[in-house]
Amino acid sequence: MSDLLYVNGGNPLSGEITVRGAKNFVSKAMVAALLGETPSVLRNVPQIRDVNVVTGLLELHGVAVDADAKGGVLTLDPSNVESAHVADIDAHAGSSRIPILFCGPLLHRLGEAFIPDLGGCHIGDRPINYHLDILRQFGAVVDKREQGIHIRAPRGLHGTKVNLPYPSVGATEQLLLTAVRAEGVTELSNAAIEPEIMDLIAVLQKMGAVISVDTDRVIRIEGVDRLVGFRHTALGDRIEAASWACAALATGGDITVKGATQPEMMTFLNTYRKVGGEFEVGEDGIRFYHPGGDLDAIVLETDVHPGFMTDWQQPLVVALTQARGLSIVHETVYENRFGFTEALVGMGATIQVYKECLGGRPCRFGQRNFHHSAVISGPTPLEAAEIEVPDLRGGFSHLIAALTAKGTSTVRGISLIDRGYEHFQEKLDALGAEVGRD
Ligand code: EPU
Repeated sequence: MSDLLYVNGGNPLSGEITVRGAKNFVSKAMVAALLGETPSVLRNVPQIRDVNVVTGLLELHGVAVDADAKGGVLTLDPSNVESAHVADIDAHAGSSRIPILFCGPLLHRLGEAFIPDLGGCHIGDRPINYHLDILRQFGAVVDKREQGIHIRAPRGLHGTKVNLPYPSVGATEQLLLTAVRAEGVTELSNAAIEPEIMDLIAVLQKMGAVISVDTDRVIRIEGVDRLVGFRHTALGDRIEAASWACAALATGGDITVKGATQPEMMTFLNTYRKVGGEFEVGEDGIRFYHPGGDLDAIVLETDVHPGFMTDWQQPLVVALTQARGLSIVHETVYENRFGFTEALVGMGATIQVYKECLGGRPCRFGQRNFHHSAVISGPTPLEAAEIEVPDLRGGFSHLIAALTAKGTSTVRGISLIDRGYEHFQEKLDALGAEVGRD
């Protein structure tokens, strides 16, 4: 299929679409299945490329994956886990960030793991130092090689005390997936507590793990000897839901997102309301709409949960180009997540990025050379343009901008969006968007 999408924008998007399980949970639950002695069943799985990448990696390691893709059900049977060939694993290099989370489960199952160079979006340096430090603290020996990282656990893995310098989502997951079967007790301070992590903890508990989440970001795990398979329905994708909500706001539309849930989106909903968007929480989803009139400028800071997610920032910035006044957005999770605004400026938006921490408390990127604050002045009509998709969320944000702009835009590199947005073109069709490929 062509990697280029024509978008004839300027019309409100309206209608109903469904979001399924969260990309940033489903991929981790699939890895957790490696730890069980019996098969696991995961429901509400979206058809996105990240799921295919993890499926491929699991199969390389001997996990039998049976997918009822349409029904969103994955059955993962880890009875015959085995070492994969380095060359086969290497074929997955650069495709995703999930391979690093295979370390703990593979060390428990096989005593060693090989991890290829990671992929994922270029929104900052995205180091893995926390992951490797954690694994070393459990007793693993890490050997960095040209093609990737080789990890062994010659004396097994032992519970430990870890204090994260920053509440990293991936590092918290790394610790959980390693600690559940390590010998003894593990305590993690400054843990990430995103809803996707809580759902992963629920999965691990179903498998037989003993995990308690205390106040003040402390998680305690008592290692157990064996874990079994789980049956679980993934929580909905709150990033995808918010992306569609922002599309409704920017285009002056009305979108009901089935599968969107209020508890996981409270912070987003508060901000949505402050900008002037309206929403109605229903039985099985949330209706997001532009009530007419002006949208309001806001001052916003991204943060770890329960703060405003960094992944919500990019689509919201597009909607803020349509708000009256000066909005200030301070990105504190990734140092380099405003690159996508360049294309918006090319479409007529007035956005200035700054190295200073604007509009909030100083963050760890403050005295460094990163453009991590943005001032958006609106409302500005957007003009159609030729755009190249930079990363997953930035790319979807460009798509929203193209749908907002009058005229025909061409969006290149559109397949990147398939990594995390299930059937987005069909959904756009259902919402009345005029989009097409060659
Ligand atoms: N960090 C380090 N060292 C590490 C790990 C992280 O310095 O070893 C830093 C990162 O550079 C970043 C911060 O810690 O500045 C937070 O990163 P985190 O580890 O929390 O992010 P992640 O686990 O790599 C996941 C999601 C991201 C989402 C972030 C924050 C997945 C696969 N990815 O990334 O999702 O933005 O948490 O919520 O779960 C996306 O879906 O488009 C996406 C980028």
